[in-house]
Amino acid sequence: MGRVIIFTGKGGVGKTTVAAAHAVKAAKDGKKTLVVSTDMAHNLSDLFMKEIKEEPVEIKNNLWALEIDSNYEMGRHYGSIVEAFKKMLPYGSGVDGEVLEDIVVFPGIEELFSLLKIKEIYDQNTFDLIIVDCAPTGETLSLLKFPELFSWYMERFFPIEKVAMKILRPISKVAFKLELPDELAMNDIEKLYVKLGSLQNLLKNREVCSVRLVTIPEKMVVEETKRSYMYLNLYNFNVDGLYINRIIPENVDNHFFDQWKEIQKNYLEEINSVFTNIPIYKIKWYEVDINGVGALERIIEDSLDDRNIFKVLKTIINETFEKTEKGYRLDVYVPFADKREFDLFESGSDIIVKIGNFKRNIPIPHTIKKYSIASAQLNNGALSIYFE
Ligand SMILES: Nc1ncnc2c1ncn2[C@@H]1O[C@H](COP(=O)(O)OP(=O)(O)OP(=O)(O)O)[C@@H](O)[C@H]1O
Ligand SMILES: [Mg+2]
Repeated sequence: MGRVIIFTGKGGVGKTTVAAAHAVKAAKDGKKTLVVSTDMAHNLSDLFMKEIKEEPVEIKNNLWALEIDSNYEMGRHYGSIVEAFKKMLPYGSGVDGEVLEDIVVFPGIEELFSLLKIKEIYDQNTFDLIIVDCAPTGETLSLLKFPELFSWYMERFFPIEKVAMKILRPISKVAFKLELPDELAMNDIEKLYVKLGSLQNLLKNREVCSVRLVTIPEKMVVEETKRSYMYLNLYNFNVDGLYINRIIPENVDNHFFDQWKEIQKNYLEEINSVFTNIPIYKIKWYEVDINGVGALERIIEDSLDDRNIFKVLKTIINETFEKTEKGYRLDVYVPFADKREFDLFESGSDIIVKIGNFKRNIPIPHTIKKYSIASAQLNNGALSIYFE
């Protein structure tokens, strides 16, 4: 069974550097490793000082790199789908607001093809470890929630059975103002739909895949890191590591940095006090930027010397259903979530949890469907929903 580690974080904090350092370490440890960048603005080529393409290239013994070109992936497998979606998009009116919100996410579809490529490589089973260097946080999160939203959308508004399609097609234009895709696109959409299901299973498989956050000890970045941690938990990903980069070394005695050191100290303390559930790694600010394998080895030696670093380090079960006296309780782990940003509603067979701009559909197990939501509580980062 292979292993996938996804690195994410705000722009410029050191995601590519940290991801690549892990890749170099893993290769040295004898693991056949692939480091993949999904960011359209790729940096792996610069870092390794070697041309990296849309298929894996060997960097050194056991170490391979790949810069995914989502347009290339999309064209290669699903050209007809893109056309079909384009036709569907302008016809969103007439469906209710909830649905519209999901349609708005569709322009991010290119990103999805990066993840599908990773799944494809994972299935080929040629690498022991796949390390993913993601685009800055915002995009990555929408990328990670995409499979879920997409299948939710498909199941409800896109009758996947061909029979239904045959009946719907003649009336769809009139009744739904929706242009349904042609036969070729339909086959591709079915293929994509099945693949998305298995991509979901891979990304949420806590034995295989984990997400690691990269941050720096500064206000804005720490705030965003906390939010990412919350959202990733909301979407039920296994976040099992945090890297604090660019820490000013103690022995720097330039007065310019005195106050910066104080600021960093405060945020380091805050991070340590709030991220108590996951391992934290600290990386110092080096006197030069990080280029090439040699520089990465310095980071490995100084900060990543942990035998268990590639293991699934900590798993918290995000969603649990418990039997209560009057019915059931669903607990969802959403650390740092703000009460005021919360919204909760039922829709068909799902519960929809909304926090700020993020929305997650949690399917209700069959046995619980006969109950309805009686109350909900947010306590110490855990959302408890009572079904009675
Ligand atoms: N600890 C460090 N000490 C010195 N330089 C660093 C350190 N970490 C990263 N850098 C440098 O900072 C720059 C940004 O790092 P990197 O490219 O890894 O960030 P990123 O999060 O991947 O950025 P982006 O969001 O643009 O993809 C690079 O030039 C890198 O060499
Ligand atoms: Mg980068």
